[in-house]
Amino acid sequence: MGRSVGYLLLLLMVAASSAIGGAGTPTGGTAYAATGGETATAMTATGASEVGNVRIPENFVLIRGGQFQMGSPDSEAWRGADETRHAVTVGDFRLSRHELTQAEFLEVTGRKPSAFSGPELPVENVSWLDAIAYCNARSQKEGLTPAYSVSGRTVTWDRSANGYRLPTEAEWEYACRAGTETPFNTEKSIGADEANYYGHYPYLIEENYFSQGNLEAKPGQYRQTTVAPGGFPPNEFGLHDMHGNVGEWVWDYYGEYGAQAQSDPAGPASGTLRVYRGGGWNDFAKNTRSAYRAAMAAEKGSFNVGIRLALNAVPGAGLVTGSEARPEKAAGAGQVLIAYYSWGGNTRAIAGMIRERTGADLFEIEPARSYSGDYNTVLSEAQRDQRAQARPELAKRVDDMGRYDVILLGYPNWWASIPMPIASFLEEYDFSGKTIIAFCSHGGGRFGQSLTAIAKLAPNARMGEALSVHYSGGSALGRDIGEWLAENGVKER
Ligand SMILES: Cc1cc2nc3c(=O)[nH]c(=O)nc-3n(C[C@H](O)[C@H](O)[C@H](O)COP(=O)(O)O)c2cc1C
Repeated sequence: MGRSVGYLLLLLMVAASSAIGGAGTPTGGTAYAATGGETATAMTATGASEVGNVRIPENFVLIRGGQFQMGSPDSEAWRGADETRHAVTVGDFRLSRHELTQAEFLEVTGRKPSAFSGPELPVENVSWLDAIAYCNARSQKEGLTPAYSVSGRTVTWDRSANGYRLPTEAEWEYACRAGTETPFNTEKSIGADEANYYGHYPYLIEENYFSQGNLEAKPGQYRQTTVAPGGFPPNEFGLHDMHGNVGEWVWDYYGEYGAQAQSDPAGPASGTLRVYRGGGWNDFAKNTRSAYRAAMAAEKGSFNVGIRLALNAVPGAGLVTGSEARPEKAAGAGQVLIAYYSWGGNTRAIAGMIRERTGADLFEIEPARSYSGDYNTVLSEAQRDQRAQARPELAKRVDDMGRYDVILLGYPNWWASIPMPIASFLEEYDFSGKTIIAFCSHGGGRFGQSLTAIAKLAPNARMGEALSVHYSGGSALGRDIGEWLAENGVKER
């Protein structure tokens, strides 16, 4: 209870800080988009246009290619080590002005997978594989050549095909930036009146907690839902919701960029996670930055992640084959370990209940130097460690990690991600072939980007279905834990 008061205090501090944000106008750069009037394009009665024999739906924008700096500069606050800046050239392509809606998804698939309901809302809770299947099904329906062929876990993209496809990660960032080099395409901290995100936490708001350090950052509305596209101003290319609303799957496997210049890159040839970009309604602004990279297994979905479609502007060349580097299942004895970090006791109590139910071994992840017991101090310590991507030394090790196949990993949501001792823990062992099943205690932000952070740190582990618990859980916790264990095939004793 004391902790929930504390987190409310944090919110109040955020709400109390006041600021006035000015309107930004993106600068030019080398990138530009043609938002209408293409030459050799005939408009049809519906507003769609035809180029050659291909009918282009009216909501697609022609993005003129160019060169840009992909990734973020070292000076960008909250950047990840995986945002290495490098020059990238992309060719012309088309991108939908808005995220794919539930009506569009339903029309082709007959399915309503979303957590929020409304035909005009963006579809979410769709996996990368769902997105690929949708692209192909819609292409077939409209007489286009499907861009993808799927064989088991191997998906091959025919770059010459005229069908619907996902943008590459480079195309996505080029289109999002629309010529800007700032953290957001608005050139200033993005406000909740400009994008649908976890509006209590605009970019760099933490600088206002203990001083009036950043009066540009003004807390705004946290809508707690997706919204219909078109409600916020588009970027310079005419694209809506590139920051926030739902994250957007892109083609690429998650991997290091490298510093060399690249031309129309399509990401690593293999991997275990696919990238999604732009952040969603449940993300802090820092995780909706133009350069921020989120990743998840191809078969997973989230209420925070959807689809934006791309089309070729000119036929590309070649096949890009992405084969899943899924590791073999570990040959351990099938044992389960509950490993958790807890600052205030909520996660510890949840871990204790899971142990009661499963009889699994219990391990507390403890930093060698504890965080302060004072709430305000731990807020700034945690923030300092996250911004530095610190790896605090841990007080003790798991004796024989090789014995365990399944790790139930518990932690509190800290600044929309994991506490850094969890990062130390994940880097200390080899989780290849093991299954990590997260449980996260939070103060309203659910998982934030913690699942992405775990997946990036243990890319060779399988991620089970995670459980989010509001503070200490309340009366339904026992039932929720039971359902969660069953869903993940973890036996109760
Ligand atoms: C440093 C710090 C940062 C936090 N950041 C978030 C946050 O971003 N989102 C959220 O929902 N809760 C946040 N909280 C609240 C905790 O996640 C929540 O109180 C949780 O129940 C604490 O678990 P514990 O008692 O095991 O430490 C934060 C708490 C602390 C101390």
